[in-house]
Amino acid sequence: MEKILITGALGQLGQEFINYFSNKGVFVLATDVKDPPKDLPCLFEFADVLNKNRVDLLVKKHKINTIYHLVAILSANGEKNPYNSWKINMESFQNIIEISINNKIQKVFWPSSIAVFGTESNLDLVSQNPSMNPETIYGVSKLAGEKLASYYFGKFGLDIRSLRYPGIISTKTLPGGGTTDYVIEMLNSAKNKSDYTCFLNKKTRLPMMYIDDAVNAAIMLMSAERKNLSISTSYNVTGFSVTPAELENKIKSRGFNIKVKYEPDFRQEIANSWPKEVDDSISHKDWGWSCDFGFERTLNKVLN
Ligand code: SER
Repeated sequence: MEKILITGALGQLGQEFINYFSNKGVFVLATDVKDPPKDLPCLFEFADVLNKNRVDLLVKKHKINTIYHLVAILSANGEKNPYNSWKINMESFQNIIEISINNKIQKVFWPSSIAVFGTESNLDLVSQNPSMNPETIYGVSKLAGEKLASYYFGKFGLDIRSLRYPGIISTKTLPGGGTTDYVIEMLNSAKNKSDYTCFLNKKTRLPMMYIDDAVNAAIMLMSAERKNLSISTSYNVTGFSVTPAELENKIKSRGFNIKVKYEPDFRQEIANSWPKEVDDSISHKDWGWSCDFGFERTLNKVLN
């Protein structure tokens, strides 16, 4: 029986994983450094993953055998304090790795990101393993984390599995400090009948994924047989790609009367170094991935 620890559990992905596992009756221990909502459907412990001993004790106390390590400072926030971002993104991951090896954890899930690529990759359609030159501290830390995952699998047999998530579109839970956040901000502005100022230019194409697909992809990857996984760093996955102008037009064509202004800020430069489209054919081949939600279906979910 799986006994799951989720770190960074109150973030955009964490709360969705909590709901998914709790609905299935799987034991979940959620940890975070902020207070949980009253209706959280699982056990919660306040824990900073930089405090290795505390997390180690929790793993032992609850006989955890699977970890979803979701702690991270996202791309745009990361640039405000790169030292702290590296510390939070990497030291926490190293702690989880050490705890996992010492406690014989069966599997670890750790999200990577499209931020690992860079302008030396073919950004029109990034392949699984192009040359990579991430330009944010977030991307640098995710690429380093991918290498760590591969190293600890090779040397210690720790079964870490990872996806390079594109922008995740969710409405119940919000992202914080990412470059792809404009999608959710524009959708919420439309629903709230307020105007929106987009921090990227109209034509910036970026890959996205609806939250149900993001959860489903992780579950599929975590359920696959390890012998079928040819990638020990992190797998490309995507839903669909879109520009702010295309999103604005679609929102309007569905009857929402939204005014959008475009005032690109420092996040434009980040987006310029990210892929427009992602080739996730190796995920299809290795573990049967395919997304359920394209652009239209995502809008049906979010706007209805
Ligand atoms: N959504 C993330 C970000 O924008 C990408 O992994 O930072």
